[in-house]
Amino acid sequence: MSRSVVAAMTAYTLELREAEIKLNQNESPFDFPRELKEQVLAAMAARPWNRYPDFESMALRTAIANAYGLTPENILVGNGSNELLAAAIGAFVGPGTPVVFPRPTFALYEKLVTIAGGLPIAIEFEPDSGLLPLEKMLAAIRKYENAVAIACSPNNPTGGVLPDGGLDALLDSGAMVLLDQAYADFASGGQAILPVRTDRIVCPPQNLVTFRTFSKAWGLAALRVGWLSSTVENCREIRKVKLPYSLNVISEAIAAIALEHPEIRDRNVKRIIAERERLFAAMQQISRIRVFPTRANFITFRSQKPLFDALCSRGILIREVAGDCLRVSIGTREQNDAFLTALKEVA
Ligand SMILES: Cc1ncc(COP(=O)(O)O)c(C=O)c1O
Repeated sequence: MSRSVVAAMTAYTLELREAEIKLNQNESPFDFPRELKEQVLAAMAARPWNRYPDFESMALRTAIANAYGLTPENILVGNGSNELLAAAIGAFVGPGTPVVFPRPTFALYEKLVTIAGGLPIAIEFEPDSGLLPLEKMLAAIRKYENAVAIACSPNNPTGGVLPDGGLDALLDSGAMVLLDQAYADFASGGQAILPVRTDRIVCPPQNLVTFRTFSKAWGLAALRVGWLSSTVENCREIRKVKLPYSLNVISEAIAAIALEHPEIRDRNVKRIIAERERLFAAMQQISRIRVFPTRANFITFRSQKPLFDALCSRGILIREVAGDCLRVSIGTREQNDAFLTALKEVA
């Protein structure tokens, strides 16, 4: 018999359907350039596969540090940011630790907190404003001495962000802040972390851990590479929880090569933002749905009618999210047009 908190949980799931146009997982519609794939694979074929990866992942940590103006000691890399979120929650959340997060948000946080025996404190909010419920989160944090806060900005699945100054306010609250920036490239255009007060840039806050991924803007979801940055002390603690050697040499090498070509990410981001704005404007014209402001690579909307199956039968797979809301990832221009045509028919 599993532990009671696990027995009471539902598994992280995804509706598996075959569809011609797949807009359900916030993936990039643009594959990584073939020449670079081949370059890395050739180098990997020459490397012995009987040897473990570098214990410290130093090449990739150095490449990330150079790209974002950080130092390798402030960085951990992992098998997707999911792995690092699990390690950080394992490091900072124990039995009874209050963990404040908005709802709806990325479902994995609550599951990991529950597994750790923490006390999930979900702050329900309406996504209409495009902003996360900062004040309510702060009020919840103030009720406890040892709260952990989790914020995803832009937030999956609503698309909204922390208000200006929101990160500073969370840090000032004294809570340990886990900031998931999986979609930050689509909001900020490549900055390492959200803007913070100048003194915090000089002296990185003790109570902040930020998470990034190569799965979205870089278009490398299949490779499973994520990273986090925090103080040296926090990285040391999180590393005690993280599995050793979780990142394989091929993924590590591809991520390092990717960082030598920021133009790949920048081009993807530019195209996706342009398409997001075009699709958003078109969806706003459909009176039977309500579209929420978004700074990510997806658009979430509320519909009076259930639309998921009707879109599936037209070859378009999107995602059902909390309640009567649906989320569509931004695809290529052609995919977005096909989605729009089908949506107008079924909405
Ligand atoms: C908010 C958020 N964080 C993290 C992840 C996981 O990213 P990774 O592929 O790096 O594990 C996702 C994936 O969809 C996500 O939406």
